[in-house]
Amino acid sequence: MTTPTIELKPSSSPLSAAEREAILANPGFGRYFTDHMVTIRWTEGRGWHDAQLVPYGPLSLDPATNVLHYAQEIFEGLKAYRRPDGSVATFRPDANARRFQRSAHRLGMPELPVETFIEACDVLVRQDEAWVPEHGGESSLYLRPFMIATEVGLGVRPANEYLFVVIASPAGAYFPGGVKPVSIWASEDRVRAVPGGVGDAKTGGNYAASLLAQAEAAAKGCDQVCYLDAVEHKWVEELGGMNLYFVYGAVSNEKPKIVTPTLTGSLLAGVTRDSLLQVAKDLGYESEEARVSIDQWQADTENGTLTEVFACGTAAVITPVGTVKSARGEWQQSGGEPGEVTLKLREALLAVQTGRAEDTHGWMHKL
Ligand code: COI
Repeated sequence: MTTPTIELKPSSSPLSAAEREAILANPGFGRYFTDHMVTIRWTEGRGWHDAQLVPYGPLSLDPATNVLHYAQEIFEGLKAYRRPDGSVATFRPDANARRFQRSAHRLGMPELPVETFIEACDVLVRQDEAWVPEHGGESSLYLRPFMIATEVGLGVRPANEYLFVVIASPAGAYFPGGVKPVSIWASEDRVRAVPGGVGDAKTGGNYAASLLAQAEAAAKGCDQVCYLDAVEHKWVEELGGMNLYFVYGAVSNEKPKIVTPTLTGSLLAGVTRDSLLQVAKDLGYESEEARVSIDQWQADTENGTLTEVFACGTAAVITPVGTVKSARGEWQQSGGEPGEVTLKLREALLAVQTGRAEDTHGWMHKL
């Protein structure tokens, strides 16, 4: 695999400092984008080439471009954080790079070398460093690497040309309520992914397929849809765009255990999910992957052993789950308040990410 050098073509007209500061004061999620982007092309027989840092702007695509018809597309999400000394670091970019390769493989696309993925993110963050929010809050710079099939033609087969792009967006809380618990609709008829399908690949199609169920969840007054497995319609998989954790026991009176659904192939191997298995152990809790059924979820909540539930992901960080609605009834986690284990894990993870705590696992990639 070739590793191209990224050619720099900085923007001649970035946003003014005042415009940027106004955006950084209230970035929301995914609404504003920085001044530049990195693009790298891949062509059959030539490999990766034409790596460039260019002004952020529209892509020009022929209407018959393959991705517009058959959705051969993958993406990633990772964040850059401002540290107490003013420097910047990204969180586990190697883990995202490796998942990007797995997604590429599953979608019949070329695998970008891990070091090129990381270098592309680094080059963009260095160029647009002024867009990384100040240390002290919960804001960060969200990086969105993605790859699309750019061959022009309507034949259904892996394309012979691709475009890899990294864009960046300052990010506050994914959910407008911040750590306010979100409500969940556990859908028993709509499924996200099937065994042998693409559920463990980070491809746009999985998210497109989730939108109707997400709209149905919203119509039921819920913030997020929760998917069950496609075969037995009972095993909890994940939410529309994030993983789930179940907390057994409380900090105050017993050793808590956090449990996340096993990676069966039809759910996404979240980097935050994986990190929390370790962060929990660092805090002296137990953590494990296991299958959890919707019936067990309800019964263990009602008998008091399941004390908290939270969602996790790069965008969502850790967000508590409050109300759960399903065809079999409605129940509430931790009285609809953020649970203490959830908040402790959230604080511990954010402390490492923002450089307030020691990075004992070598997760931070300093620029
Ligand atoms: C992320 O957490 O990075 C995601 O990809 C979830 C969503 C914003 C698509």
